[in-house]
Amino acid sequence: MSKLQEEISKRRTFGIVSHPDAGKTTLTEKLLLFGGAIQVAGAVKSNKIKKTTVSDFMEIEKQRGISVATSVMAFDYEGIKVNILDTPGHKDFAEDTFRTLTAVDSVIVVIDVAKGVEEQTEKLVKVCRMRSTPIIVFINKLDREGKDGFDLLDELEAKLGLNVLPMTWPVGMGQRFKGVYNIYEKRLNLFRPHSKQDLPEELIQIEDLTDQTLDDQVGSDLADELREEAEVIHEVYPDLDHDAYLKGEISPVFFGSAINNFGVKELLDCFVNIAPTPLPRETEERIVQPDESKFSGFIFKIHANIDPRHRDRIAFMRICSGTFARNTNYLHVRQGKKMKFSNPTSFMASRKEIVEEAFPGDVVGLYDSGNFKIGDSLTEGEKLNFKGIPSFSPEIFRYVDNKDPMKYKQFQKGLTQLMDEGVAQLFQREVDGRRIIGVVGALQFEVIQYRMEKEYGARVSYEPTNFRKACWITCDDPVAFKAFRQRRSRDIAKDKDDRYVFMAESDWMLSSAQENHPEVKFHFTSELE
Ligand code: G4P
Repeated sequence: MSKLQEEISKRRTFGIVSHPDAGKTTLTEKLLLFGGAIQVAGAVKSNKIKKTTVSDFMEIEKQRGISVATSVMAFDYEGIKVNILDTPGHKDFAEDTFRTLTAVDSVIVVIDVAKGVEEQTEKLVKVCRMRSTPIIVFINKLDREGKDGFDLLDELEAKLGLNVLPMTWPVGMGQRFKGVYNIYEKRLNLFRPHSKQDLPEELIQIEDLTDQTLDDQVGSDLADELREEAEVIHEVYPDLDHDAYLKGEISPVFFGSAINNFGVKELLDCFVNIAPTPLPRETEERIVQPDESKFSGFIFKIHANIDPRHRDRIAFMRICSGTFARNTNYLHVRQGKKMKFSNPTSFMASRKEIVEEAFPGDVVGLYDSGNFKIGDSLTEGEKLNFKGIPSFSPEIFRYVDNKDPMKYKQFQKGLTQLMDEGVAQLFQREVDGRRIIGVVGALQFEVIQYRMEKEYGARVSYEPTNFRKACWITCDDPVAFKAFRQRRSRDIAKDKDDRYVFMAESDWMLSSAQENHPEVKFHFTSELE
């Protein structure tokens, strides 16, 4: 095996997705503790924006600071290099999460045992399933009362469309929670409440569930319950088919309690064993294999520096093939120019480090003074454009205007840079040149207004629009397309890449336009598939 192949085989790059409060931050922290990347609990700050502080800008700034630090958290575990990419749970930052999911090879979904499948989880898993991303499920908070295990499995199948496969099974729940039984290893892992979590885990091998030891450990009632449930599981669920998991067709499920560090090791051990190594990536030109000798990578996230004295931003790049090296000239494909990086940074939990080289699956932070947009690629010379980094059609729109005519340049620059960062999408209507900002979550309007003033010295004002939907349009027949655009000129705008967008005031208007104009194709992500 070459050095490159060896490095690739050691890497697992994934994201944890959940509805806010299901326990993503807690689980991340426990995983980092196992990897020795942090020493004490509480080291990973929660990146969530609490509802009560939605309008508190200091809070937004603070959160942005935290979210740079937690963008990528890398740690070593049993010879494997694990990269966790952070995904904001807050729905107003959903687009950020969607984009981060383009840079992972698999995900762990965290579900709250009491709440089951929640809205945000549904949306995020849908995106993962579109791409056949392998999924492992962790059902959390078993130390609390919650839903029945089988009901939860049904819910995962019904709401998320997952084919699930329980790997562990809870014995009791809430007050009666005794532990989890590892179905395939036939091991009972006994639960100790929080205060004793530092003790080594107590694992009891039970080859045969009829064994009296089970009754001695968990009491006869729970022992009988487990016997019955285990029988059902054996009848209904097959053994884990690794290939099916890698294809995203089957999702192993674990039960535990992150805060008590319970069931987490089980999850991590299985994860490093089965999760995919860095996968090939599709470009418009061809498929890029990770073990190709030439380096390539793409930008999936851009973070403005929160310190106004340092204007530069950090662009996060996922390496897709070859070896990335510091101070080496690479091609910025969109701009057609060579660039090299003297301080590429890696993130090991809360520590930052300059890297000399990095490998497929790794994420490096590149200091950038405004050259990058989300989706940009870097290569050793080949013109590659990575696919799968779409903009999603936004749902909330406002006209945006420059309030201070003397500051037009600042307004223009600020708006362009914030859009490059992916904070929102900007459309410009052809008939009157008016600019329209579209966002997924309303909080972004406040963020833009605040940052434009603070970082660029430009004041923006908003005006409501009646638009409710925007989608990209294409047409094979240029004449018909022109006619359509003329007829509907008040509903047509262009996006930042000069692509035509149809803006509709309601779902009904959109579907009637679709019906009346079968020659025009309407696309709901910018990838125009
Ligand atoms: P998130 O990142 O998905 O939003 O969730 P986070 O980890 O912040 O967890 C949300 C809340 O759930 C936290 O409580 C956390 O302590 C709690 N929690 C996480 N795992 C478990 C578990 O296994 N059992 C129980 N009972 N609770 C769990 P909080 O009160 O919101 O915050 P904190 O003050 O405890 O930090």
